[in-house]
Amino acid sequence: MTKERTITFAFAGKGGTGKTTLAGLFVRFLLEHNLTPILAVDADSNANFNEVLGLKVEETLGQAREMLKKDVPAGMTKDLFIEMKVEQSLVESKDIDLMVMGRPEGPGCYCAANNLLSKCIDRLMANYPYLVIDNEAGMEHFSRLTTKDIDLLFVVSDPSRRGMLSARRICDLVDDLGIRVGRKFLMINRYREGLTRLISQKIRGLTPESVATIPEDELICQYDLEGKPTFELPLESVALQAANKVFARLIGQLTLGQARAAS
Ligand SMILES: Nc1ncnc2c1ncn2[C@@H]1O[C@H](COP(=O)(O)OP(=O)(O)OP(=O)(O)O)[C@@H](O)[C@H]1O
Ligand SMILES: [Mg+2]
Repeated sequence: MTKERTITFAFAGKGGTGKTTLAGLFVRFLLEHNLTPILAVDADSNANFNEVLGLKVEETLGQAREMLKKDVPAGMTKDLFIEMKVEQSLVESKDIDLMVMGRPEGPGCYCAANNLLSKCIDRLMANYPYLVIDNEAGMEHFSRLTTKDIDLLFVVSDPSRRGMLSARRICDLVDDLGIRVGRKFLMINRYREGLTRLISQKIRGLTPESVATIPEDELICQYDLEGKPTFELPLESVALQAANKVFARLIGQLTLGQARAAS
């Protein structure tokens, strides 16, 4: 039997633009369409994907890496220890597991512990048909994995000039890091009416099929303030409705593309 390939989705963008919120809505979309099991990966050093998904995290992989340097029990190999730690730090829920990478090491650190961890994460990821990664703008964690394929990269921006410039920089960065991206898609989040003309000037070079806007949503603000997971937003949420439309279109195109590639 041939094993199906993992389809990798990643979210990146300037801080505070809504990456985690939209990644959460995307996970919900996949669950609702039985596109499971999913591995959700929090690859942002300021980890909070779990809050959006409503899951509790005990231990991050960054902590496991620290332990690998000094606390490996006698008689246990480092490989086995890290494998055990990766398994322990996996938050398991129905149809979705969450892995939190934690703080990355300083720049340029490619220590043995990191290498071991990267290999172990790569192996784990390969067990899931769907992978959803919430990144930070620098793509620090992702750049250290040996598997460097993203089928669909959601670049999230707010409707600001700086957000848009960051989005462009991230697109350049992934190319420089040698990350292979099947498709880049710009999501302009927290969008307000009346900005269309200005935004279309800023995103010259991107085809309309590669851009979508998600409106500012009072319900998201309310959920955020009340500490409720946005994963549970009601159907009347305007952001949820807009995001679902975009996700349905993209998944349709992706599966169509894959069916074509396979034939
Ligand atoms: N469409 C929206 N309408 C209203 N509020 C939103 C919307 N999208 C996100 N927010 C709010 O914006 C804030 C930032 O969102 P979020 O944490 O998802 O961004 P982020 O890009 O992941 O941030 P960070 O860079 O800190 O990881 C949160 O308070 C969230 O509730
Ligand atoms: Mg975030």
